[in-house]
Amino acid sequence: MSHGLFLSFEGIDGAGKSTHIESLAGAFRAQGRTVVLTREPGGTSLAEKLRAMALNDPMDALTEALLMFAARRDHLLQVIEPALARGDVVLCDRFTDATFAYQGAGRGFDLQVLATLERWVQGVDGVATGSLRQPHLTAWFDLDPAVAAQRLAGARVPDKFESQPQAFFARVASGYAARAAADPGRFLRIAADQPRDAVWNELLAGVRARGFLS
Ligand code: TYD
Repeated sequence: MSHGLFLSFEGIDGAGKSTHIESLAGAFRAQGRTVVLTREPGGTSLAEKLRAMALNDPMDALTEALLMFAARRDHLLQVIEPALARGDVVLCDRFTDATFAYQGAGRGFDLQVLATLERWVQGVDGVATGSLRQPHLTAWFDLDPAVAAQRLAGARVPDKFESQPQAFFARVASGYAARAAADPGRFLRIAADQPRDAVWNELLAGVRARGFLS
């Protein structure tokens, strides 16, 4: 049986990751892999309810962070861990790096507290020791916040995060850059300001270079 594979996809709103996640699912399926396409916050019935609250209701940054990690815990236990145990490929639209980027860098919430929550939620046995569940690879769609703002303008009714000012997304982008710098082996940076085909080719080449797709 193949080993389970866990890939996450990150970037500021408007970075354009969604279509590429679908395409990558197709590439894995073409090689005979079973793919679980999922997202955070969300991916389970409970976590989707938490998503609706976190994305729409006003709340302070700690409440927001706790909801994100509560959703993540349920998602890990119900969906991600069982899929990896079966040997499936899990493609997850956002994961913990988003909490560090949005609630941490974007909203200015304490990164040490987020790191503690990360250890609790992603600790294999639910305690703050031992190894953490992290994606094997995180594709980070890096885009200038000014370009992202142009792409988002008028696209649809914005949620709580999408309606934030450009300065917020500049902080979120720097949050992603800091997470990538702290764990360069896990991150695949993709220059998301290119035409869609070029972005796709860069993603595919990066995933192949790490030996995850032949
Ligand atoms: P997103 O993934 O962009 O989905 P869609 O394309 O359907 O809008 O939306 C999720 C939003 O939630 C996005 O603005 C980032 C935010 N978010 C956080 O603030 N913290 C988190 O931990 C996660 C996972 C997402």
